[in-house]
Amino acid sequence: MREFEQRKVERDKIEKILEAGRWAPSAKNRQPWKFIVIENKNTIRKIAECTIYKFVADVPLLIAVFLDKSEMVDRTKDVQAIGACIQNMLLAAHSLGLGSCWIGEILRRKEDVNRILDVPDDLELMAVIAIGYPVKKKRTSKRKSLSEIAYREKFGIPWR
Ligand SMILES: Cc1cc2nc3c(=O)[nH]c(=O)nc-3n(C[C@H](O)[C@H](O)[C@H](O)COP(=O)(O)O)c2cc1C
Repeated sequence: MREFEQRKVERDKIEKILEAGRWAPSAKNRQPWKFIVIENKNTIRKIAECTIYKFVADVPLLIAVFLDKSEMVDRTKDVQAIGACIQNMLLAAHSLGLGSCWIGEILRRKEDVNRILDVPDDLELMAVIAIGYPVKKKRTSKRKSLSEIAYREKFGIPWR
């Protein structure tokens, strides 16, 4: 979701979201993630300038998620672990009555984001998560049907 109230997210909720990320599975349990919690309006505005998604400027909380390259085992597995970590945080946010949006487009400007946040080169930006109380309105979403993506025993035999 991409429309948030201005209301601040409580510190204990931020902590619960970070905890959910911290407990994600990872290859060899290397936990190759680092998080930066961003609530400062000025910093949020600067980060928003690095993406075409202008709604980011009005979000009360951003969490930047980095891959710590000094903890890498295998890039594919480490990136998968970061995906699990981010999804954990999105689900935790939802369970706390918050809305969130995974911003990947900003990776085009990941070096600029590192500069804004004083982040060293061995941390690679994986995503910025926008979090806040959702503006209440009806939202729809769609997905491919199971018959388009799931098979029985061998590829090509439809699940149903
Ligand atoms: C890796 C990844 C990158 C994404 N990047 C963006 C993004 O830059 N901007 C955005 O608004 N949504 C982004 N999303 C959210 C997707 O657009 C969204 O999950 C998808 O359209 C399905 O919508 P739903 O999750 O609300 O059902 C991203 C999601 C993923 C997993």
